[in-house]
Order: sequence, then structure tokens, then C-alpha cells
Amino acid sequence: MKLLIATKNPGKVREMRELLAPEAARGLEVVTLADFPPVPEPVEDAATFVENARIKALAYADALGVMCIADDSGISVEPLGGRPGVRSARYAGENASDEDNNALLLFELSTVAKPWPAAYFCAAVAAVPGRVIAEGNGRICGRITTNRAGAGGFGYDPYFIVEGRVETMAELSPEEKNRISHRGQAMRALVRILREQGALG
Ligand code: IMP
Repeated sequence: MKLLIATKNPGKVREMRELLAPEAARGLEVVTLADFPPVPEPVEDAATFVENARIKALAYADALGVMCIADDSGISVEPLGGRPGVRSARYAGENASDEDNNALLLFELSTVAKPWPAAYFCAAVAAVPGRVIAEGNGRICGRITTNRAGAGGFGYDPYFIVEGRVETMAELSPEEKNRISHRGQAMRALVRILREQGALG
């Protein structure tokens, strides 16, 4: 059995590979987009994480003829009315870097009274050509800090303090982040369903 991690985000590839390690140890062949000729990127224009994840998983499964997993994820900041949300990757513009997005987030919060509650959301979806076969969701709550800390993770992690802890998400070990994160939760739920379906061999 072969499973393609359908994302160009290197942080997501790293975390999803780690989360799929037990399946790989059981014989699942985990591959990435780097193992295939380039295909056009699907347009993620839906209003929800799960719809965007469905678009991506299905588009890559159809284009490459292989079972795919895609996630759509982002951070939702309460005093900003839930922004950036599904726009997290492109918050500061189409080709925005993590630094650009973080700078815009802190700028937008600069006139807003603290605390700044926030949550990461993730929907992970698996598809084979023609149809979606499983979905999993995850969420982790916390708050935004202006004190950047940590070199792990990616994206908004250096500015996100997990609820009940003092560290930012970027200060957690990769294992600890995957144990508690939105992506870890969503991927474990997804893998459980795929296993029950016998889709992982
Ligand atoms: P997309 O799902 O590819 O549209 O983009 C998700 C975006 O949300 C990423 O580019 C990050 O900016 C942010 N994001 C999602 N998950 C995480 C995470 O685990 N840590 C930090 N940022 C994240």
C-alpha cells in the first residue's frame, strides 16, 4: 500500500511523516510530492478547513492516481474575529512567509487588549481517485504572545502558548507537539478510520 502526503509545506510533511511512522513500520509506503512529477496546485477557496482539505486530497489523488492525505489547518485568534483562520498560510499575501504572517498578526493585535486567546484547527482528509474515504479533526487552544520563543515547529508556533503551559509550541519537542497538537489529533483520528477500513494494508 502507498500513501502520498499531499502538501508542499515542509513543516507539515515532517510532522505527518512522524505521525505515520507506526504505519510505515507495518509496511505502508509513505511518499511525498517530491516523488512525483509536478502537478498544478489546487485552489483552496473553501470557507472551512475540512472543505479545503477535501479539495486538496481529492485533487492530488485524481492527478496522481494514488491514495493521498492532505490537511488544512490554521490559527484562529478570538479578538480578531477568528482570523486568520483558513487564510493562515496567505494572511499577509499570496506568497507570504511565516515571518510576514507573524508580523501582520502582531501588528493587528497591537491595538487590542490582552489576553489574545487563540486556537489551532486541523482537518486531515484521505482520498483515493474519485472519492474522499476518511476525515479527522483536531484542535488545540492557547494564546498569542509577543515574546517569540523556540526554534521547533513552523508557522505561528513561536508565538503560540499552549493552554496550561508556559512554553510556546515552537519550544516543544517534535514528539510532544505531535502528541498534543491539532494535527496529531486529526491524523490519529484519520489513521484509526483508515485502519478500520483496511485501507492501509
Ligand atoms: P494550509 O493548510 O496549507 O492552507 O496552511 C496552513 C497554515 O496555517 C500554515 O502555513 C501555517 O501558517 C498555519 N499552521 C497550520 N498548522 C500549523 C502548526 O502546526 N504550526 C504553526 N502554524 C501552523
